[in-house]
Amino acid sequence: MDVIVGGGVVGLSAAWRLARSGRPVTVVDPAPVSGATHAAAGMLAPVSEVTFTEEPLLRLGAASLARWPAFAAELAAEAGLGSGALDYRADGTLDVAFGADDLAALEETAAFMEKLGLRVERLSGRECRRLEPMLAPSVRGGLLAPGDAWVDPRRVAAALLAALERLGVPMVRARVRELLRGDEGVQGVRLGPGEAGGGPYPEELRAERVVLAAGAWSGALAEVPVRPVKGQILRLRSPRPLLGRCVRGMVHGLPVYLVPRGDGELVVGATQEELGFDTRVTAGGVYELLRDARELVPGVTELELAEVVAGLRPGTPDNLPLIGPGGEPGLLLATGHHRGGVLLAPLTAALLTGEEEELAPLCAPGRFAA
Ligand code: GLY
Repeated sequence: MDVIVGGGVVGLSAAWRLARSGRPVTVVDPAPVSGATHAAAGMLAPVSEVTFTEEPLLRLGAASLARWPAFAAELAAEAGLGSGALDYRADGTLDVAFGADDLAALEETAAFMEKLGLRVERLSGRECRRLEPMLAPSVRGGLLAPGDAWVDPRRVAAALLAALERLGVPMVRARVRELLRGDEGVQGVRLGPGEAGGGPYPEELRAERVVLAAGAWSGALAEVPVRPVKGQILRLRSPRPLLGRCVRGMVHGLPVYLVPRGDGELVVGATQEELGFDTRVTAGGVYELLRDARELVPGVTELELAEVVAGLRPGTPDNLPLIGPGGEPGLLLATGHHRGGVLLAPLTAALLTGEEEELAPLCAPGRFAA
């Protein structure tokens, strides 16, 4: 049996695909979908979110994005939902610029993308506003990544839970105190109560393999170079969608993005704060997000502020995930996805089932062993 430690989008996706491949699987999490997945915006934007130094991440993101349409369709069907149930949309991301410096930076990005063979379109300010009439008049130009997509992570997680239930995969709502280790390596997990007391749960779960997918908390159970990177995010609500696609921009030197949902929700994200395991939402976080979002789309201030939430991304030293053998027999890692857990979930699952091999070296945890 495989025990998956962690019931976020990565752990649940891994559990779903491993169970589908015929392996007996159990998921352990005291409160599934309460971590980074609950806070995530769901951008599937490997092109517009990439930076110059992150070509390997772009390769992983592009490969996972290519898997998303089939992953979403199959997941919706297996969860017994309709095809639009995950709010998966592939209408691109528009990166906008205000000043000459921003425009020059977008031009450099466009050249880099084109060198890599990726499709991007340079747009004037007027063309940007034709696509997105709610954009600020001060937007001077933009870059459209037409292949980028997005999805509602909470709907994805709910569908994964439903699909796992249909497959009969047990969900143990308990905390993992420690990994069980013996002469043969990792042999299972020792359990403790969940957040609300949990139970009933066994004291131990024996497993052939343990897949550690505990996000920012992974370092409590094994030697993994993962640190929490806090992200605060806002959910705004309007009677109808304000934007037709994801919009991003740099404001006051900080990136801000707006992700529209079909039901009129608009997600604004996200802060990036290195404060350890701190999940407080702060006045400053809300202020900065709203201030910067208003620069891009002035109309956001009219919307209802429905929710503010903070999550902890699992950051790694090189911003690449840790997927594969975890340095101890019986231990597999599926963690360290930092800003890309939702995007990289299908690829992560494919790497764990062996369906994808070529990209495995880029994510191999052994790269930090030395
Ligand atoms: N992927 C966007 C974020 O982590 O904020």
